[in-house]
Amino acid sequence: MVYITRKAEFCASHRLHNPKLSDDRNRALYGPCNNPNGHGHNYTLEVTVRGIPDPQTGMVMNLQELNRLINREIIDRVDHKNLNIDVDFLWGVIPTAENIVMCFWQLLEKALPPFCALHEVRLWENEHNMAFYRGS
Ligand code: NI
Repeated sequence: MVYITRKAEFCASHRLHNPKLSDDRNRALYGPCNNPNGHGHNYTLEVTVRGIPDPQTGMVMNLQELNRLINREIIDRVDHKNLNIDVDFLWGVIPTAENIVMCFWQLLEKALPPFCALHEVRLWENEHNMAFYRGS
């Protein structure tokens, strides 16, 4: 089994706020990420798939094809968007890196060709904070 990773970047804004909690509690919980009018992040996404390299091509999956798939399923839908409002698959989700990465997993898993498997999705919110998901 061989693992390959494709990296992509996008910029988006969000606000972390749980309407079931008080404003004070939200401020204490999320700090600057609870700013009423939102704020932005430069996100980095890393998608790792695994498979057995095809003997003819030497590839688990063509990285250009993986790039197209990531752009179509994720980047085109989130880049320069407000994650609380503009992105239908995040409606009703508090857009923490943890929650976003799980939603990305669902979309990518459905879109991958049958000869390889999604192994890991990593989402860097900035250079210090990252969440990864392996499907369970
Ligand atoms: Ni934030």
